[in-house]
Amino acid sequence: VYAHLAHPSSHVRTPQLFNAAFAARGDDVVAVSIDVDPAGLAVLVDGLRAWRNLAGFGITMPHKEALAALVDDTVGDAARIGAINNVRREPDGRLIGRNTDGEGFLAGLRREGHEVAGRDALLIGAGGAGRALAFALAEAGVGRLTIANRSRARAEQLAADVARAHAAPTAAGPPDPAGHDLVVNATSLGLQPDDPLPVDPERLESGTLVAEIVMTPGETPLMRAAAERGCRVHPGLPMLECQIELVRSFLELERPS
Ligand SMILES: NC(=O)c1ccc[n+]([C@@H]2O[C@H](COP(=O)([O-])OP(=O)(O)OC[C@H]3O[C@@H](n4cnc5c(N)ncnc54)[C@H](OP(=O)(O)O)[C@@H]3O)[C@@H](O)[C@H]2O)c1
Repeated sequence: VYAHLAHPSSHVRTPQLFNAAFAARGDDVVAVSIDVDPAGLAVLVDGLRAWRNLAGFGITMPHKEALAALVDDTVGDAARIGAINNVRREPDGRLIGRNTDGEGFLAGLRREGHEVAGRDALLIGAGGAGRALAFALAEAGVGRLTIANRSRARAEQLAADVARAHAAPTAAGPPDPAGHDLVVNATSLGLQPDDPLPVDPERLESGTLVAEIVMTPGETPLMRAAAERGCRVHPGLPMLECQIELVRSFLELERPS
């Protein structure tokens, strides 16, 4: 079993997508959705340690940061990011966390022919996904990174964390897309039909690539507004699709049994 933890979970498409991928590859795994609220998270995760045929689990909003503190160990950039979106269950019940959001996002962009090296990037959102994307964009060599967030202190903290680890000039700033080559929405704005846009569309310039990470709806109001302004747009789904192989390899599904 590969579980998927979210709250709420009705908008989440990961289990369906992973089930199709597992079936296509002949993996003996089924993905199931678990809706757990923050108050129940620790007790659920402790119970998952005892689930002997659990390969691992994915995690999305709002649990990624909380989970980073509940696992026994992490790999890759997860500790610096402070959030994880995948856990492998070891045979002895130990839980190992990893964050594949950033790598998946970059792979999705590259799959569609977009390179980020040297770009002047505006990242909106400093939550779990935003933190992963900030480290990944810096690692991939963006020329400059500006991070905007509703709670400004989180953007400032993230900019300082990234600046400590990477050379790219990184700072917190306003969500003003003007003058940026790449604008990324890593907030949850766009999930609900009456959400405000994360940026003022009047400030979008036609040369800018506007990338979304919200997957439902497939075309968000931000993507529509950006396309109307002549921008190139990139949807949220490729980021998830490109994480499937990363997760299969992390779960060691290829390991001979
Ligand atoms: N495509 C993919 O593969 C993929 C992967 C991961 C996540 N996602 C999507 O990415 C989104 C964010 O996920 P997450 O895990 O980062 O969630 P999270 O940790 O809860 O962070 C939510 C982010 O959205 C901001 N936000 C929420 N409501 C807002 C509002 N009304 N106005 C302005 N900002 C607001 C938050 O700002 P504050 O800090 O001020 O609260 C924070 O930056 C979700 O929609 C999720 O489904 C997609």
